[in-house]
Amino acid sequence: MRGKLVVGNWKMHGGLRQNDVLFADLRSGWNPPEGRRLAVCVPFPYLWQAQAALSGSAIAWGAQNISEHATGAFTGEVSAAMVAEFGCRYVIVGHSERRTLFGESDTVVAAKAAAALAAGLTPIVCVGETLKEREAGSTEAVVLRQLDAVLAKLGSRMADAVLAYEPVWAIGTGLTASPEQAQAVHALLRRRLRSVDAGAADVALLYGGSCKPGNAQALLACRDVDGALVGGASLKADEFLAIARA
Ligand code: PGA
Repeated sequence: MRGKLVVGNWKMHGGLRQNDVLFADLRSGWNPPEGRRLAVCVPFPYLWQAQAALSGSAIAWGAQNISEHATGAFTGEVSAAMVAEFGCRYVIVGHSERRTLFGESDTVVAAKAAAALAAGLTPIVCVGETLKEREAGSTEAVVLRQLDAVLAKLGSRMADAVLAYEPVWAIGTGLTASPEQAQAVHALLRRRLRSVDAGAADVALLYGGSCKPGNAQALLACRDVDGALVGGASLKADEFLAIARA
């Protein structure tokens, strides 16, 4: 059964000393209620630190990106296998910041999801529409196009992935999708997953975009919202833990 999964996305934030404090606060503050899982996705250089600080705890860790390639002459890139060596369980792929700022196409995102699975990692595949796309009435078409590219590549292996719906207009803006808006898109994604592969119907569907302690409960109460992908609020232990307990 699906339970709830809350994942922190630190983005390009952190520092050795502040990470130590944050890891310690998370570790001491997290007493997982039944069916709740917590994870943090940190910048590459901090994976060893996450491993050292969180090993043996109930908190998993992961990366925020990987190369779609397994090995080779790709200066500056990091492979899924490298990340896996640091005990990662998760890797975020296709975050909207990667898609818009670094030009990652649906095809590249799908290849990254496959690379993650091949290395034994759980990809957290992000989909979401911009404000312009929402206002043009194309939310459904956009998120399904993004999901379909991954489904075409993974097929039944999608059952081992996590999917995150992150409306781009809600990321870091303080605007949040209403529970109704989130539920509508999650239900759509769930239907698509189920229609393609019965095993994928139970894929955890996370909501992301200005998720805070004040709105987490209503969002996590939605039938098809299985957790949250949390940016800004994941950098503060008290806020992140409040969301995880919501
Ligand atoms: P936010 O970011 O919670 O700061 O809006 C979410 C994300 O980008 O994953």
